[in-house]
Amino acid sequence: MIQEDLFKKIIAHCKEYGFIFQSSELYDGLSAVYDYGQNGVELKNNIKEYWWKAMTQLNEEVVGIDSAIFMHPTIWKASGHVDAFNDPLIDNKDSKKRYRADVLIEDYLEKINDKINKEVEKAAKRFGDTFDENQFRTTNARVLEYAAKIESIKANFVAALDANDLEKVRQIIIDEGIVCPVSGSRNWTEVRQFNLMFETKLGSVSEGANTVYLRPETAQGIFVNYLNVQKTGRMKIPFGIAQIGKAFRNEIVARQFIFRMREFEQMEMQYFVKPGEELKWFDTWKEKRMNWHLAMGINPEKYRWHKHDKLAHYANAAFDIEFEFPFGFKELEGIHSRTDYDLNQHQIFSGKKIQFYDNETEESYVPYVVETSIGLDRTFLSLLSACYQEEQVGEETRVVLNLPECLAPIKVAILPLVKKDGLPEFARTIMNDLKFDINCMYEEKDSIGKRYRRQDAIGTPFCITVDHQSLEDNTVTIRYRDTMIQERIPADKLSGIVKEKTDIKNLLKKL
Ligand code: GAP
Repeated sequence: MIQEDLFKKIIAHCKEYGFIFQSSELYDGLSAVYDYGQNGVELKNNIKEYWWKAMTQLNEEVVGIDSAIFMHPTIWKASGHVDAFNDPLIDNKDSKKRYRADVLIEDYLEKINDKINKEVEKAAKRFGDTFDENQFRTTNARVLEYAAKIESIKANFVAALDANDLEKVRQIIIDEGIVCPVSGSRNWTEVRQFNLMFETKLGSVSEGANTVYLRPETAQGIFVNYLNVQKTGRMKIPFGIAQIGKAFRNEIVARQFIFRMREFEQMEMQYFVKPGEELKWFDTWKEKRMNWHLAMGINPEKYRWHKHDKLAHYANAAFDIEFEFPFGFKELEGIHSRTDYDLNQHQIFSGKKIQFYDNETEESYVPYVVETSIGLDRTFLSLLSACYQEEQVGEETRVVLNLPECLAPIKVAILPLVKKDGLPEFARTIMNDLKFDINCMYEEKDSIGKRYRRQDAIGTPFCITVDHQSLEDNTVTIRYRDTMIQERIPADKLSGIVKEKTDIKNLLKKL
């Protein structure tokens, strides 16, 4: 399926099946803000549970917190967000569309990279089994020319960003002839910085209210609670603090559905380590986080590492895990070695000492931090993109979400074949037994075929059908979503089978 079509289908599917609705739709919507519906919230909660347990329950030295969205405004001064949490924006004068200048350049580089991949693909077809990809990439004149071009643009771009030279950023766009995707023209304005934080007022305006911010990341709530958690939890370095919560950014170029939202959720963990040991822990967390993704069983080729060419001034290593969304490989999670920058800044701005006293070495130090930061909504979108399938079954097309069983919104659908003869009562007994452990749905409307299709479309891994034979021999039919195979099993075995197969520990045990 063409990827653009897939994306449109996923968006339509999310609405039709109660996963995601445009916020304030009744009032024509609020751009880049979304509501999660009855199935969406279940899937989202399951992803959170998987992350939370993987981070805290499986790592004894990682604990969780839930800090407030509002924080003292000086925190955002200390963190650098007031002065530097900006996007470089550029407008096309013909289409009147606004873009992030850095994204325009990155997309342009990606297009050159696609050209390299096309050359490689063509050569692979031409040479067949004898094709040596590595040799081709390092010797083919055209590929080398493209690669050199990418490197040269990247170097210029990094230098321009480092020097905060917005005119130079614009010049790259002009020199490379980057066009507006809408108007196709090169009629660009200058590049301007735009701060992404939302402001509001705390207290009554008449009494001189304070400006406060809606947090643009959850991480700062962790940094400012470092001492509280370390002391009350008697934590020893290395240890981590995890948090799941809302973050807000006034994204100007907010497209691509829930990929870039103005209100979204992050799952972040800061791991506090001894200075000098941060790169070792950075490698450990890189591996752990990639395993977390792979354990969900999605094609590993959908994930790749992206090394940051331009490190933030406080970071000494940074990689992203990118996922191949229907609109290309994009950032899903960041793993960053942030040194002691944040804690130091909070020491300076609060005037309080934020250190760890090591009893063994009898020395105090400001811990270094390795951060893992993943967007919950992007994880949601990555799962839907990978699990949405259209299959030909006889004459019709079935849409199925082959989500990992334990993440599916509804684990079991209980379906009496007909609405009479005592079948609903029998089905209800099963439901009443299972509902204390897993999320089930009872459905008796429409033909059994239609009910199966509806459950496939929301990713329900098991459908249980109760028929007349059930009343005679206490057996039911279990239908498996992915294979559509149906088996007759004793009703009293059901609970054991489905609980075992939908248990989150099936994923956790792979880590
Ligand atoms: N504390 C580090 C931090 O916030 P980030 O790269 O700005 O780093 C981390 O954000 C993750 O949050 C991203 O990898 C992405 O998954 C998610 N994210 C960031 N901005 C987002 C947005 N506007 N909409 C949805 N998810 C977003």
